[in-house]
Amino acid sequence: MNFDLFEKAASALPSVFFEKPVDCGVVLGSGWGKTLQCDEVLASVSYADIPGLGVPSIAGHSGELRLFLRHGIRVAAFMGRRHWYEGEGMEPVVMPVELLRRMSAGRLLVTNASGGVNAAYRPGDLMMITDHINTVGLNPLIGPVHPGWGVRFPDMSEVYNLELRQILRAAADDAGVRLHEGIYAFTSGPVFETPAEVRAYRAWGADAVGMSTVPECTLAAAIGIPTAGLSCITNMAAGINPNGLNHLEVIEQTAVSTPLMANVVDAFFRRLT
Ligand code: HPA
Repeated sequence: MNFDLFEKAASALPSVFFEKPVDCGVVLGSGWGKTLQCDEVLASVSYADIPGLGVPSIAGHSGELRLFLRHGIRVAAFMGRRHWYEGEGMEPVVMPVELLRRMSAGRLLVTNASGGVNAAYRPGDLMMITDHINTVGLNPLIGPVHPGWGVRFPDMSEVYNLELRQILRAAADDAGVRLHEGIYAFTSGPVFETPAEVRAYRAWGADAVGMSTVPECTLAAAIGIPTAGLSCITNMAAGINPNGLNHLEVIEQTAVSTPLMANVVDAFFRRLT
């Protein structure tokens, strides 16, 4: 891990980001870019101006870091995610969490798009992540123990914080949105899974599968930032879905589900006040 990059990235941000603790950090995944409602934008920085973060290379990720107020809380949102499969290492993937640590973020909300592995799910459904399975031999904590990144062997018993899960559940109820609770299996991508892999993940207990989120949430758990995860099931995973998969379908489904996603996120912020 190149820690100098984090130093450079933090120095590139306006000081307003560090003036007061951030109440909630956010990392928005594929197709979640239009789900934030802001009362007052305090700062906006393009990813292109943050050294080492780099601009997301895929559709559905805008690449803006926005600091704003909503329902009286201070939110720092990374609008667009870098993925491991983009091939630039772990630094851009976990940089949002490290920058949020430096902003003394009290909580983290991570969102993504995923394929439904649980046959009872339907495209467009939302799932609260209760736990994850890292199917990849990949972990952002490999390497020397970084001061501020917790202990050598971090506990992963509650990556997705129980209290925030209760708040997310109440937020979905406020918004009148049905919310599944399930386990997210992380794959490296960039390929979609084979049907045999999807059957294997289901046998392991996964409810959804995707190519993100777990590196960031692993670091957040090690650091001790309480985290909530929210997934939009954009398609049924390979083998369940008879039609084959493509990224366009993922983006189209998030566009359809955006009002639901936005209402849950906003109700979540309201409940944090
Ligand atoms: N697999 C992996 N990642 C995904 C999927 C999927 O089916 N849908 C959206 N992201």
